[in-house]
Amino acid sequence: MSISIGRVERVIYLGAEALVAEGEFLGYRAVFKQRLRKPYRVPELDQEIVSKRTVAEARALVNLRHHGVRVPKVLFVDPLAGLIVMEKIDGVVLRDALQTIDRESSCYAMSLLGEEVGKMHKLGVAHGDVTTSNAILGFDGSVYLVDLGLSKHVEDVEDMAVDVHLLIRVLESSHYAHREELLKCFLKGYRKLLGDEEVREVMDKVAEIRTRGRYVEERRIRKSN
Ligand SMILES: Nc1ncnc2c1ncn2[C@@H]1O[C@H](COP(=O)(O)OP(=O)(O)OP(=O)(O)O)[C@@H](O)[C@H]1O
Ligand SMILES: [Mg+2]
Repeated sequence: MSISIGRVERVIYLGAEALVAEGEFLGYRAVFKQRLRKPYRVPELDQEIVSKRTVAEARALVNLRHHGVRVPKVLFVDPLAGLIVMEKIDGVVLRDALQTIDRESSCYAMSLLGEEVGKMHKLGVAHGDVTTSNAILGFDGSVYLVDLGLSKHVEDVEDMAVDVHLLIRVLESSHYAHREELLKCFLKGYRKLLGDEEVREVMDKVAEIRTRGRYVEERRIRKSN
């Protein structure tokens, strides 16, 4: 007799940091996120980095879910192997969904993203990689956050602003035609959680980060000419 607790069926994503596969685990539809080893790193250091990031991501998922943020449920963690098994979110990656759904639905989905990021910030956690690829528009109509590997404790308003800044850059590169509208929709949801005052503070910091970025870019161009 063979008893299996799970099985991997197909790879759904292969990035620089991780391989993500879909399958079944303890009767759940599951996603297996396997952090990849880097051949150029000293093996002991590589092991430590992989284990630390795996634990950090799993811990963030469990903690945030406990506090009501829509993130996948963690089913199993193996730090040494760099593996997290989590519930599969049935849906479409937000980046792709925004290419097909109408403007009103896109706006609504972005406001839901704003609410989830707002919930995180209110809990004092920055996501670290807020992009439309790290959000899933579920078939249940909710927006879920994934990819918590870079999440961190908020030390000051800059950590929150970096999340919003990164999202703005993604809107500029992947959703250019509707970037302003989508940002407005995001901020509507974000404001619901954080309130006008705090969002104003965050957006002032975002403006500062963008000015700094432009300054660095201009210096780089001047130097190379
Ligand atoms: N729980 C999940 N349910 C459904 N799809 C998922 C889930 N987790 C990840 N995915 C899909 O896999 C893709 C990659 O996952 P993720 O973003 O966590 O990995 P990554 O970008 O390689 O992470 P990292 O930045 O840590 O290297 C996501 O964009 C999403 O499409
Ligand atoms: Mg990702």
